[in-house]
Amino acid sequence: MPFMKPKVYVTRNIPKAIEILRGSCDLTIHSKAKPPSKREIMQKIRDKDGLLCVLSDRIDREVIASAEDLKVISSYSVGYDHIDTDAATKNGIFVAYTPDVLTETTADLAFALMLAVARRVVEADKLVRRGRWKNTWSYDFMLGNDIHCKTLGIIGMGRIGSAVARRADGFKMKVLYHSRSRLSIDKESELNATYRELDDLLKESDFVSLHLSLGKDTYHLMSEQKFRLMKSNAYLINTSRGQVVDERALAKALRMKWIAGAALDVFEREPVTKDSPLLRFDNVVLVPHIGSASRETRERMAEVAALNILNVLKGGKPLYAVNPVL
Ligand code: DGY
Repeated sequence: MPFMKPKVYVTRNIPKAIEILRGSCDLTIHSKAKPPSKREIMQKIRDKDGLLCVLSDRIDREVIASAEDLKVISSYSVGYDHIDTDAATKNGIFVAYTPDVLTETTADLAFALMLAVARRVVEADKLVRRGRWKNTWSYDFMLGNDIHCKTLGIIGMGRIGSAVARRADGFKMKVLYHSRSRLSIDKESELNATYRELDDLLKESDFVSLHLSLGKDTYHLMSEQKFRLMKSNAYLINTSRGQVVDERALAKALRMKWIAGAALDVFEREPVTKDSPLLRFDNVVLVPHIGSASRETRERMAEVAALNILNVLKGGKPLYAVNPVL
């Protein structure tokens, strides 16, 4: 029998990943601008050995069940809440992801958001463009809040949370953190970070930055009760997953001035629609899920996502596996 290349479905036109996979795989690429529907994904992966997907493709139990030969689902993302990992594990399918390579880029964005919202960068830019800069200079014009020497509360001290803590050191910030498990004393001192129970962190921080993965225990972690604990001059920064924040509670917190503002890269529903109450607040900075969106990082993510597939199809393990598959 002639050698048959393994079959891989790629749900987006990601040039670097395609270049790496092309030689050894028989590729089916979804290259239309409109993402593939769930039905299309199910049809396409029926006879495939590998799937390269992105975070907005929902790879649930039903999708996984439709693929008889699938060996690896490789997501071009660090988050994998869009994939039913339990179902994949039961079916002996590896779930792979792209951590590490996007850590610093996502931490950069968290910091950019923090600076933007506290120093009112987006509001100020809009004001200049709209011709509303009338007096040359005035002492109380567009006042914001300092970042340096303030208290930053990091919720989720994994790779990205730690990279944010390292940046905070340069701003002479006091860093508090809350995580599922406490860091070692050595790691705490390397990051100059102090552990706090969640409620205490919320009460003490001037900036609260979320770096959590989405799961049953983190869904709507930022609830009305949590916002009520925050300081009225504090800001919420979210570059993790939108569903970690109850957006209705956030809108209420902003309306009631329980907090000073928010800067968000991720939302409960993406893309954000025009009727989102968050759009009404000047003290909210909104960006369209661009945490990892630098040219260099997206290139590296493509490499890792492709190598995760190739390794499995050659009989090995992904570079970064989410689940243990025997
Ligand atoms: C991911 O890759 O999961 C993140 O959302 C990057 O920002």
